[in-house]
Amino acid sequence: MKILVTGGLGFIGSHTVIELLKNHHEVIIADNLVNSKIEVLDKLAAITGVRPDFYQIDVTDEAKLEPIFQNHPIDGVIHFAGLKAVGESVSKPIEYYYNNLVSTMVLSKLCVKYGVQKFVFSSSATVYGDQPSPLKEEMELKKTTNPYGETKAMSERILTDTVKANDGFAVVLLRYFNPVGAHESGLIGEDPNGIPNNLMPFVTKVAKGQLKKLSVFGNDYDTVDGTGVRDYIHVVDLAKAHVKAIENLTKGTRVYNIGTGNGTSVLELVNAFMKVNGVDVPYEIVGRRPGDIATCFADAAKAETELGWKAELGIEDMVRDAWRFEQQNC
Ligand code: WQD
Repeated sequence: MKILVTGGLGFIGSHTVIELLKNHHEVIIADNLVNSKIEVLDKLAAITGVRPDFYQIDVTDEAKLEPIFQNHPIDGVIHFAGLKAVGESVSKPIEYYYNNLVSTMVLSKLCVKYGVQKFVFSSSATVYGDQPSPLKEEMELKKTTNPYGETKAMSERILTDTVKANDGFAVVLLRYFNPVGAHESGLIGEDPNGIPNNLMPFVTKVAKGQLKKLSVFGNDYDTVDGTGVRDYIHVVDLAKAHVKAIENLTKGTRVYNIGTGNGTSVLELVNAFMKVNGVDVPYEIVGRRPGDIATCFADAAKAETELGWKAELGIEDMVRDAWRFEQQNC
């Protein structure tokens, strides 16, 4: 199939492009480079031997995006492009609602107009709000704690309603848990601009000495060691889930949790990182981060049953691969 990947030079998008090419699909990338680097295109070519068609455009810009649909017989879209910093979304809500919702609406409109039948959306476990884990797809969604999470929940509704109104349009909503790690080559990985918001890139920068120490946001949660528990999933496993999702999509709306089903605490992750990589990660326990929940992990059974997908890589693979990328690139 010929797949348009928006945000295809970003962290999850670039890893998914590799898996699509490995599965003999043709890929077109649209990315505005606001949170990615053009050098990733060369790295994709180095890893796969294929340099995908690339368009530097903002996918909220319908006039710039439509020619791609006119000039290429697209079979499916995987939509990653979006702003994704939870904290930033609280201070810049309009930017987040505009960018994340208009991009989803423009893409859906063009898919319907040009008869593109398959759409995979990068959603998030954030849409469940603060509910007890394991989180299941059939759970009622609760209000999230930030505009970023709301844009994911609203985008899911935009897509679901578009499916109901158009028989030839089918959607898979993939609700990610915590993507971490990097491709085994060390050529691509998580490379956020500025000070990292997420745990793993912060840990790798502390290990490298670029940041002084890690602040552990609270150790008074009701968890194994008091620190926050999350379902970390290797980005390569996550990428493979997208290939399974788009290849298996026929009609209607499908929803899948993409996680391992296992919870890991902050200190368990940090200790695994230090042990596997033989490096020190100085840290200090500080107060809780506003908006954080204690525990979040997936019931991942549905993706295994219906997509034939299951996470294969564990925490040791995640911390090893994340460190290799940091050492070789940042
Ligand atoms: C993980 C754990 C923190 C940083 C967010 C989004 C989610 C997805 C992934 C986009 C928590 C603790 C973190 C630090 C810490 N984003 N932590 N010190 O908040 O679970 O999920 O990122 O798709 O939608 O909500 O991820 O990596 O920020 O935090 O102690 O410097 O690490 O308290 O327990 P989170 P995270």
